[in-house]
Amino acid sequence: MKLSVKAAQPEKQKKSCLVVGVYEGGELTPTAREIDKAAHGYIKKLLSQGVFQGKSGQILPLFHLAGSGFEHVLLVGCGKAKTLTPTGFRKMIPSVIKALNGSQAKQAVCYLAELEIRDKSLPWKVKQIAEAAWDGLYRFDLFKSDKEAAPSLKDMVIHIPEARQIKACEEALKQGQAIADGVILTKNLANLPSNICTPTFLAQQAKELGKRYSSISVKVLEESDMRKLGMGALLAVSQGSAEDAKLICLEYKGGAKKQPPVALVGKGITFDTGGNSLKSPDNMVGMKYDMCGAATVLGTIKAAAELKLPINIVGIIAAVENMPGGTAYKPEDILTSMSGQTIEVISTDAEGRLVLSDALTYCERYNPDVVIDIATLTGAVVIALGFHATGLLSNHDPLAKDLLRAGEESNDRAWQLPLWDEYQEQIKSPFADIANTGGRAAGTITAGCFLSRFAKKFHWAHLDVAGTAAMMAGTSERMATGRPVPMLMQYLINKVG
Ligand code: BES
Ligand code: MN
Ligand code: ZN
Repeated sequence: MKLSVKAAQPEKQKKSCLVVGVYEGGELTPTAREIDKAAHGYIKKLLSQGVFQGKSGQILPLFHLAGSGFEHVLLVGCGKAKTLTPTGFRKMIPSVIKALNGSQAKQAVCYLAELEIRDKSLPWKVKQIAEAAWDGLYRFDLFKSDKEAAPSLKDMVIHIPEARQIKACEEALKQGQAIADGVILTKNLANLPSNICTPTFLAQQAKELGKRYSSISVKVLEESDMRKLGMGALLAVSQGSAEDAKLICLEYKGGAKKQPPVALVGKGITFDTGGNSLKSPDNMVGMKYDMCGAATVLGTIKAAAELKLPINIVGIIAAVENMPGGTAYKPEDILTSMSGQTIEVISTDAEGRLVLSDALTYCERYNPDVVIDIATLTGAVVIALGFHATGLLSNHDPLAKDLLRAGEESNDRAWQLPLWDEYQEQIKSPFADIANTGGRAAGTITAGCFLSRFAKKFHWAHLDVAGTAAMMAGTSERMATGRPVPMLMQYLINKVG
């Protein structure tokens, strides 16, 4: 699908499907009003008869509007005027795209940037439409014998009601498109099963990025390299698996040579059985998504390269499979991490923090400006925040604030949890420097506390995306979301802007 922005007068777009908003209670958006006039009050009549109420989520396709010359109009309910939220706005776009494809539209002009959303600019709406349109088109049918038909929609124009904003909107579209590209890569990798998406496969994918973009270089550390570096925590997690662990290191160079990079560290557990602290069968389904942090690093770096962002980024991915068995690590094992700190394993299912601890220590050699790790780290974050907010913990408040703001701006929000010293008590071990779990209370925070022990030398933030990176409810509705690529991209865009 080709997306573009322009000031598109409705009367000149009669061959396309026009997508226009209608509020609940009868208020029409400017373009709906125009079409209504040309169609002799047809839309108003539908509303007064209650055929269409304008409720949010409602969609009604109209064909050959009486006497007006408009062949295809899609009415989109927007709820009560002035109540539309950023999330509500974003949510309606994918259903619009599905409705357009459902009625075989080839070209569309979207007039939804006319909608009023408090505090949100026109370019913001354009960017959201672009990102969300690709969400609406996304499917993952690689392994289905019956593929869905290709979407009919080939071309969508986003109408810009204010011509003087066209430049800013073009830039917003470019960003939205690049972010969507990154999100698609992230979703595709995440949705692959672990018998295909192994640590080795992830390393190959990173190398593909390096081939495609001259601004990206990739280096992969093997287990023998990691052993030399003393990565005892990461390697312990891998030792029960037949797959070789990989530490995948990407460098995107868009900034000045000496400029300290933003480091993105991704949890890349390609499958999490729980190890010898084995998960129950119900809890194990969905664990192919335990590499969503890794997929986010790759998607974000791709989007940054696509936009040629003038910034340096380092991506470090700890790609490991967590298996049980005779060679696997065990509860009460004591590991020596690359930092020198010893760790007592209480649960082999708290493996994410183990692989991340060595990846964080490895980051030190890049002298990063900031380090942000992304991980499906705890079930507890789902209990605390559900599926809507990413958990954020940080040792540097300005960084936390920047990420929270980027989340608000990109409609990909996070919520901060405290990283107070009191919580550190919970991860004391009688035998080693730290224990890898801290009990049931505040599980997301104690996981953050654990990571903070390996992030003392830099400004660091941790994003726990266990509730947001994929939808895992039920078995038939599983799907990756591509989050938090939009938040991270907004953070990077704000940083260079
Ligand atoms: N990968 C899981 C966390 C997870 C749970 C992600 C549900 C997505 C959905 C992680 O490795 C894990 O198993 N965490 C344990 C930690 C516990 C043993 C301290 C958990 O959350 O139960
Ligand atoms: Mn686990
Ligand atoms: Zn895990």
